[in-house]
Amino acid sequence: MAQKYYITTPLYYVNDVPHIGHSYTQIAADVIARWKRMQGREVFFLTGTDEHGMKIAVSAAEKGVAPKEHVDAVVKRFKEAWEKLDISYDGFIRTSDEKHMKTVQDIFKKLHDKGDIYKGSYEGWYCAPCEAYWTKFQLDGKDVCPDCGRPVTGVKEEAYFFAISKYQDRLLSYIKENPDFLQPSSRRNEIINFIESGLKDQNVSRTNFTWGVQVPFDTKHVVYVWFDALINYISAIGYGLDEVNFNKWWPADLHLMGKEIVRFHAVIWPIMLMALDLPLPKKVFGHGWWTVEGDKMSKSKGNVVDPIKLAEEFGLEPVRYFLMREVPFGSDGDFSRGSLINRYNADLANDLGNLLSRTLTMIEKYFEGKVPSPDSSSEDDLDKEFKKLMIEVPRAFSESIDSTAVTEALNSVWSLISFSNSYIEKKAPWSLAKSGKTLELSNVLSYLYESLRIISVLICPFMPATSSSMRQQMGLSDQISLRSGSCADNAGIAIKKGTSLFPKIQTK
Ligand code: MSP
Repeated sequence: MAQKYYITTPLYYVNDVPHIGHSYTQIAADVIARWKRMQGREVFFLTGTDEHGMKIAVSAAEKGVAPKEHVDAVVKRFKEAWEKLDISYDGFIRTSDEKHMKTVQDIFKKLHDKGDIYKGSYEGWYCAPCEAYWTKFQLDGKDVCPDCGRPVTGVKEEAYFFAISKYQDRLLSYIKENPDFLQPSSRRNEIINFIESGLKDQNVSRTNFTWGVQVPFDTKHVVYVWFDALINYISAIGYGLDEVNFNKWWPADLHLMGKEIVRFHAVIWPIMLMALDLPLPKKVFGHGWWTVEGDKMSKSKGNVVDPIKLAEEFGLEPVRYFLMREVPFGSDGDFSRGSLINRYNADLANDLGNLLSRTLTMIEKYFEGKVPSPDSSSEDDLDKEFKKLMIEVPRAFSESIDSTAVTEALNSVWSLISFSNSYIEKKAPWSLAKSGKTLELSNVLSYLYESLRIISVLICPFMPATSSSMRQQMGLSDQISLRSGSCADNAGIAIKKGTSLFPKIQTK
């Protein structure tokens, strides 16, 4: 039976317009999901939308429609965006789904019955745009939200609390004893410090709006949006309703998200799971943030970069490639068109595109379009190094993706591409042809072809269409196998050289 892999991205906040920052989480998750499928795993890639809360109710009122009508309309723009970005998700959950809401109510009641949720009175500060509550300590003497910098308002209200302080020591030991659980290590350290500074019980209900999940036994309360939204990771796979499916997928292998929401996923969520006596996800990973010319992207600043427009201008796959390659996954990055164009021309047009077209042109010219056989008698040290790299790179690639290091995975593919290009320069096949060294020439082209075959496999999760058109030109099918190949297996394949993969972008 195939091994399972359950990967999630956060629920996207429906009031937002999808920008490259949002796409970043999706593309990275998509790359990992595609790779796991290639490895033969049965994958469930879950995404969805976060649709409750005061801000959404306000937007609906401004449009003069009911909140549900509003969210039904706006959820479409996320689905369309993910389709255009070729995100291969398997499940899409909305917090307004009946089943999800029922699960939230059941969990709220269960934890209340258990004594982990209790009624009290909340006094503190609230950031409406972030829908986050802050304590005096967290505000550090200021009256602005530590996350977004906007003003917070003082509130005092009757509320239900989730007794997270009770689980503080258990969570801390878990995080310390399981270094893989929370990554990268910078986020892990931040969270450890945060927990060590002392957890306060979390306010998990509101009474000043109604657009949300009602507390089942006290209907003037609505469940706090984060408590509601986090439950999606288990409600989507049938928690409490379909135990077979639930047990099949839980615990998740990877919760992927941006760094600003790690706190919710690495503190509140694991404690909710502990309170429910459920195992914790295997890994929570917080990636870095994209800014634009040093500034945070926001609708109000008008600097939001639309990934769809970029894809229309440069092609979808160069955009996916750029986002995954430009900054090490986990670090922050700054977006500029100039760096996208540089990457396109240097990495895709020059390095990859030229490698394919030069190699196929030579196979056409010297071997009538049929991949030649290798010849071990002509093997020298450079060939041995090349062969070694062709074994090492797929191994390093796989290890990198398995540890969520998607940029490193691409770096290793490009190390093979660079080596292949310099191999051409050093071997100078045109001179071998001129001097009639046919055995050496066939060896060189057979190695280059095998290297390109490996590259076509490894780039597939990042750039599936590019991989497919490479393989078409190379006379290979789209049925990718992760076999550790040998050059001899390719002998005799008829190639069909096509147009350039990435026509160069002319710059001034
Ligand atoms: N609704 C919450 C998640 C609830 S999950 C139980 C939320 N939604 S979001 O729409 O604001 O963010 C969705 C994803 O986009 C998150 O992973 C977030 O980190 C990511 N990004 C949003 N802006 C970003 C950048 N500027 N840069 C990189 N990723 C960022 O949070």
